[in-house]
Amino acid sequence: MSKARSVFRCTDCGAEQPKWAGKCDACGAWNTLVEEVVGRKVGRSEGRIVTSTAPVQLSNLPTGGVERWKTGLEEFDFVLGGGIVPGSVTLVGGEPGIGKSTLLMQVAARLESAGIRTLYVSGEESPDQLRLRADRLSENAGNIHVLGETRLEAIVHHAAALGARVVLLDSIQTTYTEELEGAPGNVGQVRECAARLMRFAKEAGPAVLLVGHVTKGGGIAGPKTLEHIVDTVLYFEGESTLDHRILRAVKNRFGSVDEIGVFQMTAAGLEPVANPAAAFLAGRTTGVSGSAVTALMEGTRPMLVEIQALASKAGFGTPQRVATGLDHRRLAVLLAVLERRGGLPFGNLDVFVNVTGGVRLAEPSTDLAVLAALVSSVHDRPVPGDALFVGEVGLGGEIRPVAGVERRLAEASRQGFRRVFLSARSKLSTTIDVVTLENIGELARRLAA
Ligand code: TYD
Ligand code: MG
Repeated sequence: MSKARSVFRCTDCGAEQPKWAGKCDACGAWNTLVEEVVGRKVGRSEGRIVTSTAPVQLSNLPTGGVERWKTGLEEFDFVLGGGIVPGSVTLVGGEPGIGKSTLLMQVAARLESAGIRTLYVSGEESPDQLRLRADRLSENAGNIHVLGETRLEAIVHHAAALGARVVLLDSIQTTYTEELEGAPGNVGQVRECAARLMRFAKEAGPAVLLVGHVTKGGGIAGPKTLEHIVDTVLYFEGESTLDHRILRAVKNRFGSVDEIGVFQMTAAGLEPVANPAAAFLAGRTTGVSGSAVTALMEGTRPMLVEIQALASKAGFGTPQRVATGLDHRRLAVLLAVLERRGGLPFGNLDVFVNVTGGVRLAEPSTDLAVLAALVSSVHDRPVPGDALFVGEVGLGGEIRPVAGVERRLAEASRQGFRRVFLSARSKLSTTIDVVTLENIGELARRLAA
């Protein structure tokens, strides 16, 4: 790129000259030269600095937030921050078979029923296959317009011709633009198609929802920049063998991140779970050793999850440590702390820890519950069925307070929990009985008593 420089152009004859003078060198007219900056490329009008819109002052813009289209699929609307924003681009990622296409088709059916014209474009399934899926859903999907197409130019053309206000594209990896060489799904194609759709959404105004495949590592396949281009990124998670599905916002320009929505996959499509806080506690049996319940925060929502532990005599060799739903290094740390600070030897025990419902623990606030489940299993004494454990455990064996404890306890109380074990340093007012703990030695004593 050449550097920007100034030239002087005559307003009479249009000739340019490098130096200012009173008179145009070409036509001889006086006082007609104006300065111009050339050489820097801005937008498509090379050589001239232009802006398509003038700057505005924020206070001159309307307040009161953006318009949103609600789908009525409560958990979906909630994760988006209240509904689909016109002109926005949302990426929905998830493993194969998790339910991305099902979700988008339900969204399309509901929007269409609400009078918002939608176009469902599939490069993965033929319209006949889409029809089969639609027949299973409890929604009336008959009015959705479907298109089996992978060429971006054709998709944009049909979306504009139909006047679609929401375009659903399944998937970005099967879409290609004829302007680039290379097979669909390669980095250049994915990035260019997403950027073109983003422009289409901003200029023509439809909301675009893209399905994105995920890689083995769990990220969305294609360039990482894809996540930077779009407005909102949602991940659809869960075990495809289990019923519950979690829709998680990891980026949201129109709402908060880390919010989750919980769905259940049924024979008639995805159903929002009415009581998500307790969804993962269903099926819990109390009175069995090695089980403890904690409350973790998913965005602004507390969720109750059960942690199970089983410690059994190791056969031979190095004892096994198996963790499901929990980082195995975190488990190793907690076991070491329990052994050194709590005086509970695990040297010849196999240890298995499992978080039920396919949930993954990411917060340290769940440490105390993991330890409680382990202690309970070693002593083969169940913890009280109405007890909740909330606390982070430090390497010194100290139990630390956690953020948002009152919200967690309010939810636990609503679900019938009557007492909570937490850090002696927590500051709170609650209606639940509070058992305060300084360190894990105290936890072990309390649970053994
Ligand atoms: P799908 O939406 O095709 O997943 P993705 O697009 O993420 O690959 O469907 C996932 C699974 O859900 C599939 O194995 C079939 C099942 N399913 C149901 O259990 N009930 C239903 O009503 C539908 C449509 C699908
Ligand atoms: Mg699909």
